[in-house]
Amino acid sequence: MEKPNIYVRSNRLILRQFSKQDVDPFYLYRSNPDIAKFQSWEDYQYHDAEVFVERQSKFVPNQPGTWFQFAIALAETNQLIGDCALHTLLNEPRIVEIGYTLSVEHQGNGYASEAVRALLGYLFKNLNKHKVMAFTDVRNEKSIQLLERIGMRREGHFLENYMSKGQWVDEYQYSLLQSEWENLYKE
Ligand SMILES: CC(C)(COP(=O)(O)OP(=O)(O)OC[C@H]1O[C@@H](n2cnc3c(N)ncnc32)[C@H](O)[C@@H]1OP(=O)(O)O)[C@@H](O)C(=O)NCCC(=O)NCCS
Repeated sequence: MEKPNIYVRSNRLILRQFSKQDVDPFYLYRSNPDIAKFQSWEDYQYHDAEVFVERQSKFVPNQPGTWFQFAIALAETNQLIGDCALHTLLNEPRIVEIGYTLSVEHQGNGYASEAVRALLGYLFKNLNKHKVMAFTDVRNEKSIQLLERIGMRREGHFLENYMSKGQWVDEYQYSLLQSEWENLYKE
């Protein structure tokens, strides 16, 4: 069994590199239409999952102009339960965008909030990022609740900003500055 890099740890979770053993569970949740409802993809194929995992198992986070995906796994068993994306902007890598997905069976336990909170700590403390942004479809209530639960601030409403399943949809931009994060999470 491969030993993928672990980047972040929290109480119940690890954020680690994707590796070969993740293809099956990753395909299972990515191909679920409930998971894809507010995402860009549809009709996700097993081969897409194989290509995704193969590529991500070789990527390194924090490279300007790239999207890196952290695998979210249960700390006790290393089982894959979701993923967190990190988009490091090409022209201003001190600003990053994040995304997140959790398999349906693992939702409703606070795992996504725990993973994204831990990711914010890694980004602001370890990587010294200035600002973290997240975009969400305005209809995606679970995503909006998560962002507000962890203290991100709605700073924009972009009209017809995104093509999803053949339809232009509005998005909210949420953000958090490093200074705001320090105030929110100071011990
Ligand atoms: C967005 C998404 C990650 C949210 O997942 P989630 O499990 O609802 O999020 P959280 O981790 O914040 O969990 C919150 C829920 O767990 C419950 N919970 C249980 N134990 C908890 C704990 N220890 N801490 C916090 N919440 C806890 C909360 O009450 C809440 O339940 P509710 O939804 O019934 O109100 C998930 O819906 C998803 O993957 N959607 C599909 C992909 C997607 O759209 N991603 C966003 C793209 S921008």
